[in-house]
Amino acid sequence: MTSSCPVRRNEGAAPQRRLCRVADIPDGGALSLPGAGRPLVLVRRGDAVWGYADRCPHFSVPLAATPGVVLTYESQVIMCAHHSALFRFEDGHCIEGPCQGAALDRQALRIEDGCVYAA
Ligand code: FES
Repeated sequence: MTSSCPVRRNEGAAPQRRLCRVADIPDGGALSLPGAGRPLVLVRRGDAVWGYADRCPHFSVPLAATPGVVLTYESQVIMCAHHSALFRFEDGHCIEGPCQGAALDRQALRIEDGCVYAA
């Protein structure tokens, strides 16, 4: 998945974590990245990509009930599979559900040449 994305390094800094290609994320959907370190969920709408820690603020569990299958609705919200909390793509805020008003923990991203990096 990340083999076509080169390692990026800011001068004097550690290499940035390569996550995937933008095209790996379904348009209007989500991509789960369990990987090493902090598990992430990336969502995309067209050219816009957002990243969040894969942890629901309601019970601090992964958003998916089936590993790797993160639910989205209408290219607008992520739905937690456990109690159906809805989180906006744009800012991770819960707009409906048992943790309304809480938010997913955002992962800063950097997009370069069609590749997504953790910033
Ligand atoms: S654990 Fe996500 S809504 Fe309850």
